[in-house]
Amino acid sequence: MQEINQPKIRFQGVDKVFVTRRQTIQALKDISFTVPARQIVSIVGPSGCGKSTIIRLLDDIIKPSAGDIYVDDYRYEQEVPKEIIRKMGFIFQRPNLLPWLTVRENVAFPQRVLGLKGPKWEQIVDELMEMGRLTQYADAKPSSLSGGMLQRAGVLRGMSTRPEILLMDEPFGALDQTLREQLDLETLSLWERLGQTIIFITHNVREAVLMSARVYVMATQPGRMIAEIPIELPYPRTLDVLLDPKFIAYEQRITALIGEIDLAQIV
Ligand SMILES: Nc1ncnc2c1ncn2[C@@H]1O[C@H](COP(=O)(O)OP(=O)(O)OP(=O)(O)O)[C@@H](O)[C@H]1O
Ligand SMILES: [Mg+2]
Repeated sequence: MQEINQPKIRFQGVDKVFVTRRQTIQALKDISFTVPARQIVSIVGPSGCGKSTIIRLLDDIIKPSAGDIYVDDYRYEQEVPKEIIRKMGFIFQRPNLLPWLTVRENVAFPQRVLGLKGPKWEQIVDELMEMGRLTQYADAKPSSLSGGMLQRAGVLRGMSTRPEILLMDEPFGALDQTLREQLDLETLSLWERLGQTIIFITHNVREAVLMSARVYVMATQPGRMIAEIPIELPYPRTLDVLLDPKFIAYEQRITALIGEIDLAQIV
């Protein structure tokens, strides 16, 4: 078991420049941050500030233009070994379940891709289905699930290979606030049991504060980090925390910071 404050993910001075025929985009400029093991860290910021680019760098879909990325003690090189990528589970805004598979088969799908077979892995899927309260829909097709259930199945699928790291890119962005907060709390309770290291990307400040031990605020053009705010509220968190004056103060402070960026960009 890893020490709680040991860095699990580290970006050090990372730049990412996209060169297209029409323009050169500095998607990320001098990005440095750490995510301690078994903590949830959120990244908030306006559209286009490079949040998803951070996830794609970690997934080794794209390479940084400068700087270093570390996962555990491994520093990203030209060829990132599969064992590193396999430490990560991905959860996106659209669950994109495969319509011809059952809900259970969808949740188990990443295991199939990695060739993880046998009773141990079957049991992991059963436990996840149970924890996510989807057992009774195990044999149903995704088309018979509500939006919230589909999203929950997407979260469980991201966890089915037992990743040490979860990269969640606006996972509940398409849901209304009540449902989103319900799924936030469910994700927190899964995390309390499984203890993954999580990067949680969202546009929603309230959600970022609710989920995380630390919030990074980004600005755009170029994509950069402008603030790092530790959220000193104890876990486990419940809906009550939303009414805590400390919670509200964090929410207001981060919202004001983002407002200042928006204003600076209009002027
Ligand atoms: N493959 C690419 N080629 C060229 N430009 C790209 C590419 N991928 C991303 N970009 C640009 O990089 C910037 C950051 O994009 P990114 O998708 O990381 O933003 P984001 O913060 O995730 O935005 P959103 O909140 O809308 O999801 C944008 O200006 C985008 O147009
Ligand atoms: Mg994005």
